[in-house]
Amino acid sequence: MGKALFITGTGTDVGKTYVTALIVKKLREAGLSSGYYKAALSGAVPAADGTLQPGDALYVNRVAKLGESAGDLVSYVYEDAVSPHLAAKLCQQPIDFARVREDFACAKERCDYLTMEGSGGIICPLRWDATQHVVLDDLVKELDLGVLVVADAGLGTINSTVLTIEHLRRREIPVRGVIFNRYVSGDRMQEDNAAMIEQLTGVKVLACVKEGDQDLDIADEVLHRLYR
Ligand SMILES: Nc1ncnc2c1ncn2[C@@H]1O[C@H](COP(=O)(O)OP(=O)(O)OP(=O)(O)O)[C@@H](O)[C@H]1O
Ligand SMILES: [Mg+2]
Repeated sequence: MGKALFITGTGTDVGKTYVTALIVKKLREAGLSSGYYKAALSGAVPAADGTLQPGDALYVNRVAKLGESAGDLVSYVYEDAVSPHLAAKLCQQPIDFARVREDFACAKERCDYLTMEGSGGIICPLRWDATQHVVLDDLVKELDLGVLVVADAGLGTINSTVLTIEHLRRREIPVRGVIFNRYVSGDRMQEDNAAMIEQLTGVKVLACVKEGDQDLDIADEVLHRLYR
């Protein structure tokens, strides 16, 4: 049974998939068996034959050269670019969490280091109907995962990152670290953002990813320790 890490972000489009691909790739380059899983993806683009393309999984599969069938890396793929709970409602395909638990367990069996990407930010409703109310943080807790927070390095990140960490702590979900994305070296404000997040939360900014980076600048042992 492999170890796992959950990747959340301070919001949608913050760069979770971009950073996840660099992480999965770095683990593989260190000779480790590294895998990817996402429970629910919305905003999928249909291919010519009408099948929905799981964009995030395709991207990580390609960048990290996983050689997997992308369809095996995501449990639910929705076309509407809205929160999974609403996308599921619109196509009447609600998430069955027994299936997610099973797919997650299979993904964890197939590799030693599984990186699971979330949808949106940590408060992302996955199912909200007459029978069940499930938000992403409920799933992270149920799967017993520690979390890495991907945050934009720019203006506003102190607020969104600290709120994300405080929420995770309130839910008693372990926070393993923060990675800054779209970081600009030498930017005085961005350097201060990292220092302020560390002082306000005690959580370390473990790496900074710049626009177009092809590799993650983080020590192997620091990265490996994030997985439990
Ligand atoms: N450091 C970067 N350099 C270049 N492009 C980036 C970088 N970070 C993110 N992007 C691009 O920005 C877009 C959004 O990033 P990404 O898809 O990783 O966000 P996300 O948080 O995974 O979004 P979602 O909530 O939809 O899963 C993508 O087109 C991605 O390739
Ligand atoms: Mg993504």
